[in-house]
Amino acid sequence: MSTQNLNARPRRNRKSSVIRNLCRETRLVTESLIYPVFIHDKEKDESIESMPGCTRWSLNGLLHEISESCELGIGAIALFPAIDGNLKSPDAEESFNDNGLIPKTIRAIKDSFPELAVITDVALDPYNSDGHDGLVDPSGKVLNDETVAILIQQALCHARAGADIVAPSDMMDGRVGAIRRELDSNDFTDISILSYSAKYASGYYGPFRGALNSEPKSGDKKTYQMDPANAKEALREVMLDIEEGADMVMVKPAGPYLDVLANISTNVKVPVAAYQVSGEYLMIESASTAGWIDRKAVVMESLTGIHRAGASAILTYYAKSVAEWLK
Ligand code: PBG
Repeated sequence: MSTQNLNARPRRNRKSSVIRNLCRETRLVTESLIYPVFIHDKEKDESIESMPGCTRWSLNGLLHEISESCELGIGAIALFPAIDGNLKSPDAEESFNDNGLIPKTIRAIKDSFPELAVITDVALDPYNSDGHDGLVDPSGKVLNDETVAILIQQALCHARAGADIVAPSDMMDGRVGAIRRELDSNDFTDISILSYSAKYASGYYGPFRGALNSEPKSGDKKTYQMDPANAKEALREVMLDIEEGADMVMVKPAGPYLDVLANISTNVKVPVAAYQVSGEYLMIESASTAGWIDRKAVVMESLTGIHRAGASAILTYYAKSVAEWLK
């Protein structure tokens, strides 16, 4: 005898695994994942101290890692280069060297894995001896238009090498439009732009900067990356990037900004990506390594949340693990 007289008992929709499957609104699939990988110009792979479980790959190591990823169904990778200290300079010229680490790596990937979508980061921080995403003047100011003039050369260099998608992560004003014009006038109309549109000045990037040795030498990134307190401004940034020609936009970090992600995905007509960044990875990784949380459960839950909030593509350092779990 039931003591409550209820018309609605939501628990009926959860009573078995089969029924829960029928009621599920969101499904995380391997095809939605983008795998960010670190590379360097050395013979040997190196484990990354600031990001346990991640590796700075040599070219051979990377090609092997990619063959495993492709086997698992991962369709896209994002490349992040650790540049030799003596190639870094105040004007970041190495960022558009056609024989530099990124172009060489893209060509090698495309030789062996033509189907894999290769995404490259467009920003100066790995190449700039000041460690900023843009050029820095003697007073410490990060210059906008002068930086954009370099970014368009960097994007063009990546396109020439065979990148499928260029992803400006620098947050300079006007860079998406400038890159689009530069690509188009060089007959690269098919190269897509995934803009890091709503990129916040975040403490969660620390481990990544350790991986690339790219910490800013002075100051912080708050004059170009967004204030974590702002949500309306994210929509403004996204709208501007779409007007300028962005094919896809991104919110970064992901987990602490699900409201921003949801708001953007209901308000724009382009696909929205999200980046589960190094600090998010490291929090899960360290707590689960300590035995305090269940790694698989928390990784899947965090990514499902990001997907549910509206991301059609997710960058995550867990891409391979997730692909394995989903098999
Ligand atoms: C640099 C860049 C950063 C990340 C991706 N591209 C760091 C930064 O802006 O300082 C962070 C990614 C991560 O933390 O996983 N333009």
